[in-house]
Amino acid sequence: MNAKTDLYLKEMGLGPRWRLRTPVLAALEPEVSVNAEPQSDAATIAQAAPESRAAPADNRRIAIQGMDWSTLCSDIRTCNACPLSSTRTQAVPGVGAERADWLFVGEAPGADEDAQGEPFVGQAGKLLDAMLAAIGLKRGDNVYIANVLKCRPPGNRNPAAEEVMRCEPYLLRQVELIQPKLIVALGKFAAQTLLAQDAPIAKLRGSVHRYQGIPMVVTYHPAYLLRTLTDKAKAWQDLCLAVKTMREVEQAG
Ligand code: URA
Repeated sequence: MNAKTDLYLKEMGLGPRWRLRTPVLAALEPEVSVNAEPQSDAATIAQAAPESRAAPADNRRIAIQGMDWSTLCSDIRTCNACPLSSTRTQAVPGVGAERADWLFVGEAPGADEDAQGEPFVGQAGKLLDAMLAAIGLKRGDNVYIANVLKCRPPGNRNPAAEEVMRCEPYLLRQVELIQPKLIVALGKFAAQTLLAQDAPIAKLRGSVHRYQGIPMVVTYHPAYLLRTLTDKAKAWQDLCLAVKTMREVEQAG
């Protein structure tokens, strides 16, 4: 291991920066889809015939596609397109710069996010902030953070296929408005949903994909990394790939 790698790994929390400072494991909200089986949901969506994905919600999709930022955010906040509207405290549209170069996409709000109305504010969010810092980024500063689902599934259960289908137009519109140079999918669920495939995360990470034509890198969900410290080194590799890809995009543009 050379000095540079050593330095990177230190930044990963194999050194001081990513080290867990509080015993969070017991208190962690279950990031269910990382270990459970969201494949069936993603696969259902991926395999659905195009008309069955769009037909019931065509008008709504078209309306969302025409929304500006403020209309979009208020539509998300008042959305009742799926049953999660009856169990949420509030919807969580996203946070950050409206024309950020970097878009990070997680799964769905957890209890803290549902209470505060901002994505990734719990323990996983603290790790995400540290991951951002490790590559010179900061929440809200040229970075936008969103989730596939804008409302918390009760008990942090896996998002249901129908919920994803109803919510997907919001993320799509966010991507159109932000026009990020790079998307980072956080965790298996976000990756499988955005890529409409059910390959395991081990297969999806390590290469550059595209979502709506935008380069996309896949990494582990911060909540998973909190439980699986040994995979932090792989997450660091993913972040390095993201930085390299961003540089290439910027050089090409
Ligand atoms: N996990 C997610 O995927 N998103 C959040 O906002 C919080 C936890």
